[in-house]
Amino acid sequence: MFLSKPSVYISLFTCVLQLITGPLPETGNSSVAAGAQSGIEECKYQFAWDRWNCPERALQLSSYGGLRSANRETAFVHAISSAGVMYTLTRNCSLGDFDNCGCDDSRNGQLGGQGWLWGGCSDNVGFGETISKQFVDALETGQDARAAMNLHNNEAGRKAVKGTMKRTCKCHGVSGSCTTQTCWLQLPEFREVGAHLKEKYHAALKVDLLQGASNSAASRGAIADTFRSISTRELVHLEDSPDYCLENKTLGLLGTEGRECLKRGRALGRWERRSCRRLCGDCGLAVEERRAETVSSCNCKFHWCCAVRCEQCRRKVTKYFCSRVERPRGGAAHKPARKP
Ligand SMILES: *[C@@H]1O[C@H](CO)[C@@H](O)[C@H](O)[C@H]1NC(C)=O
Ligand SMILES: *[C@@H]1O[C@H](CO)[C@@H](O)[C@H](O)[C@H]1NC(C)=O
Ligand SMILES: *[C@@H]1O[C@H](CO)[C@@H](O)[C@H](O)[C@H]1NC(C)=O
Repeated sequence: MFLSKPSVYISLFTCVLQLITGPLPETGNSSVAAGAQSGIEECKYQFAWDRWNCPERALQLSSYGGLRSANRETAFVHAISSAGVMYTLTRNCSLGDFDNCGCDDSRNGQLGGQGWLWGGCSDNVGFGETISKQFVDALETGQDARAAMNLHNNEAGRKAVKGTMKRTCKCHGVSGSCTTQTCWLQLPEFREVGAHLKEKYHAALKVDLLQGASNSAASRGAIADTFRSISTRELVHLEDSPDYCLENKTLGLLGTEGRECLKRGRALGRWERRSCRRLCGDCGLAVEERRAETVSSCNCKFHWCCAVRCEQCRRKVTKYFCSRVERPRGGAAHKPARKP
């Protein structure tokens, strides 16, 4: 059912590349592709220790056929992709990569708040936004609830870029007294946009529009009304997620068996520290310890003259993986998943 229709599963990347083989605004297809790519990489980073870990399969933004999923993860993929395109194009613009685009100085000279004026070179997000809309939103050709959901989440991704911009200021006045300041808006690190969208992912709203949906004008009106009533800062989904603990070939899911998880370690955050429970324990899998030895150069000394001699240090590392419990089947059915 899947493989007979490969065209349905064009990855986001291919999609964007296909799109950009058409007539192209002067802005350059490489930037759009680079933006989509950074969205994908950020998705993989943000979900590295989640049951769903942003697999290639999920990265299609295509909208043909009826097989598109419309769950929370789909929502994130759309948001981070359109954010990635907007972000990269905006950064390209600030770096002077395009002739037709530069700083956003439209507000310069105006009062911004108490004691500060707009000034300097604000990142031109308006430009990135326009191009992101042109490319990413154009992938939605339908008028159904799924298309409306994708467009909504694309917009949420762009809102996330705008909403995480930082105000940077410079002091003026006698010897740095800072009686007045001029300020401009700068893009944050893209990581920050990703983290922001991950929070939105956890808080995503479910709307019930798939039941009894038809393609009538009335139904399209209802869809439009529903989405208009939801803030474009929020992610929206229509379906519940499948059980990511389990392998499901039909859905292209691998399950969590065999996944690595993290334990201990000083540098781990709360989310990472609980990854073994989330990926293995709560999915009815055991945590398997595997020891390995790594060899690296160490205690290097400089000898006069001129050589560096090192020792070979062996270090034992322990890694953890989810594995099927060696127990007779029956009682070991997987526990109801806790909230991730
Ligand atoms: C951009 O598009 C042109 C044709 O429209 C193509 O020749 C070129 O290889 C594309 N560049 C990239 C990086 O995809
Ligand atoms: C825009 O930036 C991306 C990533 O930094 C880069 O790959 C791409 O070539 C840039 N585009 C242009 C037109 O300079
Ligand atoms: C895979 O997912 C589909 C759709 O949710 C479901 O109908 C099917 O039963 C699942 N298959 C397995 C083997 O879990």
